[in-house]
Amino acid sequence: MLMLILGIDTSCDDTAAAVVEDGRRIVSNIVSNQNEIHEKYGGIVPELASRQHLELIVPVVDEALSRAGVSLQDIAAIAVTHGPGLIGSLLVGVCFAKSLAAAHDIPMVAVNHLEGHIFSIFLEHDVDYPFLALVVSGGHTSLYRVDHFDSYREIARTRDDAAGEAYDKVAKLLQLGYPGGPLIDEMASRGNPAAIRFPRANLKDKGSMDFSFSGLKTAVLNYSRKYPDADKNDIAAGFQAAVVDVLTERALDAARLHKLKRIVLSGGVSANKSLREEMQRKATADHIDFYLPSAALCTDNAAMIAAAGYHHFKRGDKADFSLNPRAYLPLGTYDEVQSR
Ligand code: KG4
Ligand code: ZN
Repeated sequence: MLMLILGIDTSCDDTAAAVVEDGRRIVSNIVSNQNEIHEKYGGIVPELASRQHLELIVPVVDEALSRAGVSLQDIAAIAVTHGPGLIGSLLVGVCFAKSLAAAHDIPMVAVNHLEGHIFSIFLEHDVDYPFLALVVSGGHTSLYRVDHFDSYREIARTRDDAAGEAYDKVAKLLQLGYPGGPLIDEMASRGNPAAIRFPRANLKDKGSMDFSFSGLKTAVLNYSRKYPDADKNDIAAGFQAAVVDVLTERALDAARLHKLKRIVLSGGVSANKSLREEMQRKATADHIDFYLPSAALCTDNAAMIAAAGYHHFKRGDKADFSLNPRAYLPLGTYDEVQSR
């Protein structure tokens, strides 16, 4: 029998709800972003984000159900993001899911937001295990070895800023607006990526595959202070080239090291045109199958939460009403020594 899962995600600044069938077919997918609210501050204001979630959660869930043409009676389980993310934002989704589950006697499963990003790929592609997953978002930049559902070994993570965070911070210092990723992506396409060479952090000599983006951000800041008349398109292109180089090379290195023949890209930054193209080019050259979600499924959405939630529910996982959101919630295992 077909199983419909209602997904809910309020981990950051997007209020999202979706109905997904059997973990792969999107029946409805509603995302209400708050960009207009946060734009004037050049970043997310957590207090405003949670207040906005409170206002939007009911209409967004209602719309997901009505667009799907289903009622709560048709829903097999509610999958909700319980972390990682902004605690006040997560709290709205988790409390709402708990009340919905209690009032309508629907089972509930808890999903890690990062697991959701990885599972966004299954909404459009069939991917065999094992694979290497690069999750690159506003809050995270990590490489995981995924051997099967619920087997995630983190083999690299960022030591400081996430790649998306670097995009947002660089956009702020160049006074471009928020979110910075799409704006820089656009400007970079008009600039010369070879005009300015920004540093690529490499921790490999220390035996680590980890990422670091804060030095790059400082280099852009110093450059734009030193050369206030420099072409901002070139700065954007130079910055983006450094990010894309590091992400693609590190992912290919990890795939080689772990003898993985498949790479899956996910998270907001994977909407980036240059990253998508470069990754595809390098993977093809290395005879690696490369999978990426369409741009709308790269950024935060609840369809990916329903997709991952389906597998939890099928396995018999169930969250009870003691479920609490967690701002810090690592996915899988991370062993610094083994990851080398
Ligand atoms: O996955 P996501 O929607 O939320 C988090 O879980 O963090 O990712 C949001 C991040 C933001 O930092 C945003 O600037 C970045 O993804 N982003 C992009 C692009 N679109 C969104 N970064 C680079 N290029 C893009 N086209
Ligand atoms: Zn995300």
